Amino acid sequence: MHVLHVTSELHPFSKTGGLADMVGALAKALAHSGTQISVLTPLYRVARQRATDLRSLNWRFEIRIGARNYEGAFWEQRGLAGERILFVQQDELYDRPGIYEENKQPYPDNDLRFVFLSRAAALLARHLNPAPSVVHCHDWQTGLVPLLIHHEREAGVWPFAPRTVLTIHNLAYLGYFPASTWALTGLPLDYFHPEACEFWAGVSLLKTGLVFADALTTVSPHYAVEITTPEYGCGLEGILMRRRSDLRGILNGVDYSEWNTISNPYLSAGYDASNFSGKAACKAVVQGEYGLPQRADVPLFGTVGRLDPQKGVDFMVGALEQVLQEDIQFVQLGTGVAWLENACRALAHRHPGKVGVRIGFDPALAHRIEAGLDFFLMPSRFEPCGLNQLYSLRYGTPPIVRDTGGLHDSVVDPRDDPGGATGIKFQDPSSSALAHAMRKALAVWAEPELLAHFRRNGMAADFSWNRFTTQYVELYGSLLGRG
Ligand code: GLC
Repeated sequence: MHVLHVTSELHPFSKTGGLADMVGALAKALAHSGTQISVLTPLYRVARQRATDLRSLNWRFEIRIGARNYEGAFWEQRGLAGERILFVQQDELYDRPGIYEENKQPYPDNDLRFVFLSRAAALLARHLNPAPSVVHCHDWQTGLVPLLIHHEREAGVWPFAPRTVLTIHNLAYLGYFPASTWALTGLPLDYFHPEACEFWAGVSLLKTGLVFADALTTVSPHYAVEITTPEYGCGLEGILMRRRSDLRGILNGVDYSEWNTISNPYLSAGYDASNFSGKAACKAVVQGEYGLPQRADVPLFGTVGRLDPQKGVDFMVGALEQVLQEDIQFVQLGTGVAWLENACRALAHRHPGKVGVRIGFDPALAHRIEAGLDFFLMPSRFEPCGLNQLYSLRYGTPPIVRDTGGLHDSVVDPRDDPGGATGIKFQDPSSSALAHAMRKALAVWAEPELLAHFRRNGMAADFSWNRFTTQYVELYGSLLGRG
């Protein structure tokens, strides 16, 4: 079985969020488990800098979009587990400083950029040797691919066309564009109606994929149920409800060869569940990097991630305002919307010596923070899977999470299982509910044996990919009529 993944970001070549980590790690794990894997992704400027061993496939092609022909070319590099990483080059569209945006402004031609990626993917799938039997797409940027393949299969021009899977990493990004975008797809207008690709008089590339992919997945079982409801369905709950027998939630795994506390080039000291002294050293390092007093006796809270209302950052700042009355410290790393960046800066300004803020993107610092914190905050309004709570569990840092999506599925609250507790869950997306949860964490902090119990449980929890890859392999097999 040969599976071609198509993704708009891929660790370690390009990353703005969890999508890159997830596809990079899944492709590697599937390749390890013996599935033949190729991954197609754009040759962004940053990818070209990071790809160390690019080889040309000597494969140039042209795609007619609107009134123009766009030339492209394919390049390749081998991944760590033997997976084939294929890059599509189109310098006008991808050789830019950003992946989706510059100076917080999305590129105005993002519809063209990702329609081009999708059309290049369909072309690659049709002519690649060996041919893929499944094409696995991720998020709105590749949502057109299932329809492109479906269309050619139905037209009889591609009789052995592959089966398609679409994974929803975040339903809130609809890939929504004006109706005029339809002309870029090269497809007939027959598909442009509300039962197919039209959404509120425009085009939703995500909806297109939800309608036409042979199978749908999302990144946790709980989110798979949530998105069939109006509260979480972003207006697509109707189609998801209709397709619920084709939709399954498979939790994301972690690549523990990168995310571990024993041999990790980013950490100044290693540690495991039998001895936390290295973790104490990591805490002092983080306090030092943020210019906070290097005290072992003060609980250090923190978070890493996009500053976005999805992540609950607005009410997190409110909760911190309350709990910072106590003797605690807080550090943050991430970029995002301007008003939340400003809210974080203002918080640091009001609490000198207690709060450290770093508006930026720094993978090495992210590892150090996961290791150095005492508690990791993840108060998301919704969270398809969430990876940082999985990283923090492995780093012995109990997460404090809102009880939603993948956070529901991966964190154990003491009220549900005192013996197996790994973190603290709360329900309401409000400052008071999060502040209450943080005070519970302070009660845990006050009892070192209890804290060690949380840490040990979290570090022992297994979210390695080999637990989850079999579910994808079974899904692919079922699409091919085997299993
Ligand atoms: C998106 C989701 C996140 C998920 C990640 C990888 O970033 O918001 O919850 O973990 O994709 O699937």
